[in-house]
Amino acid sequence: MKHTLKIGDLTFEYPFVLAPLAGITDRSMRSLCCQAGASLTYTEMVSAKGLWYGDRKTGELLAVGDDEGPVGFQLFGCEPEILAYAVRLLSQPARAKAVDGEMAAAFAEAAEEGDPEAAAGGEKTGPAEGPARDGSRAERQALSSSGPAVNRPPMGARTVAGLKAPAVFDLNAGCPVPKIVRNGEGSALLKDPQLFYDCVSAMCDAARRAASGAGPEGPAFGESGREPAAPADYPAAIAATPIPVTVKIRKGFERDESCAVEIAKAAEAAGAAAVTVHGRTRQQFYEGKADWDVIAQVKKAVRIPVIGNGDVMTGADAIRMMEETGCDGVMIARGALGNPWIFQEARALWDGCGFGVAAGAGSEGPAGAGAGGFVPPTDEERICQLLRHLQMVCEDKRERIAVREMRKHVGWYIKGMRGATQIRRQINTAATADEIRRILTGE
Ligand SMILES: Cc1cc2nc3c(=O)[nH]c(=O)nc-3n(C[C@H](O)[C@H](O)[C@H](O)COP(=O)(O)O)c2cc1C
Repeated sequence: MKHTLKIGDLTFEYPFVLAPLAGITDRSMRSLCCQAGASLTYTEMVSAKGLWYGDRKTGELLAVGDDEGPVGFQLFGCEPEILAYAVRLLSQPARAKAVDGEMAAAFAEAAEEGDPEAAAGGEKTGPAEGPARDGSRAERQALSSSGPAVNRPPMGARTVAGLKAPAVFDLNAGCPVPKIVRNGEGSALLKDPQLFYDCVSAMCDAARRAASGAGPEGPAFGESGREPAAPADYPAAIAATPIPVTVKIRKGFERDESCAVEIAKAAEAAGAAAVTVHGRTRQQFYEGKADWDVIAQVKKAVRIPVIGNGDVMTGADAIRMMEETGCDGVMIARGALGNPWIFQEARALWDGCGFGVAAGAGSEGPAGAGAGGFVPPTDEERICQLLRHLQMVCEDKRERIAVREMRKHVGWYIKGMRGATQIRRQINTAATADEIRRILTGE
């Protein structure tokens, strides 16, 4: 049965979210997925310690564009005080500006580059009008002609003087990378439920403190005493509700171990507003089949919303995961690479529209649901979207970096197209964005 996804005080009409993906879910990827129907997107994992040390690059990863809907900031770390600091700092970008020169410079610059009006202090919140979403080709045309910012529900990213706080904070307890695990971060937290609990609890506490006006320079976590008074210019909209804290965990650490239920219960007890379960262990990295049974077990064990993750490569997979596990939402990761339309597909199926009929096509699509349903993109539409993606990346990054980063996206978008191998070969030696454009358009 259809339902919404609720995380803290946020309600998402459609329960499909974009996963955090390091090196991939930057502003352009998040924005395109949001326009295609992702209700919530996540930044890549960001080091809480990097924020603590005022690292400029770390701050830049958290710049949110004005064309985005709700964005979750994913943090990794294993020191409760440092995670708490990061939450307090990022809950209040306007105050971060005052208390942390380095970080503020990164935020302010990002805001300025993305939106001069916002950087000048204009408040931009509230829903943006956009075309209805049924995943059809007509909708897609409307999307590309109406431009960005069509998926901004009322609770969208909270704007403070042009700098945005996240819709949610997420703690990474799943990263399998040896360098991270050796530091006791990412999936290493699965091995220490007490430390995991302390980290989540510190983040929730910090979110509450931030909501009541305590800045990152306030009393250290755990210290008792009176809360500092909210500064006079502190926005009431933010002060009213703490930003929810969510966690992303794996099935377990060792190959055949499953500690997800125990860890999810610890997250719930510590105050987390939702838990995402990736049905693989740390030792599996991204290989093998994701275990959806463990998602169902966690769903039965906790009262907070459970978001399932792992092996959702089509809209139909997303629906199947919800049916088979009873989870409240679905997080899509590799299934969205080169395929933001997966969110339209999932929404159309969730609405019971199934697959539609392409203009001029003589037969009904696979689900035979007729007009109004999801119509897979044509090769031309894929190239068009790719060109938009390239344009957005070029707006945000230096050309040399944009060209390098777009190579992988091109590979994903054109997979299965005629001539894909040759295009990929050419793109891999292209040195400028114009060259990529010419190769893609054949001009
Ligand atoms: C290239 C890559 C980067 C990733 N980066 C992150 C990350 O920054 N944070 C995180 O929690 N998970 C990260 N993940 C894990 C995904 O979010 C997701 O849990 C995983 O890919 C399983 O989902 P899938 O089978 O649908 O791809 C990453 C995965 C990949 C492949």
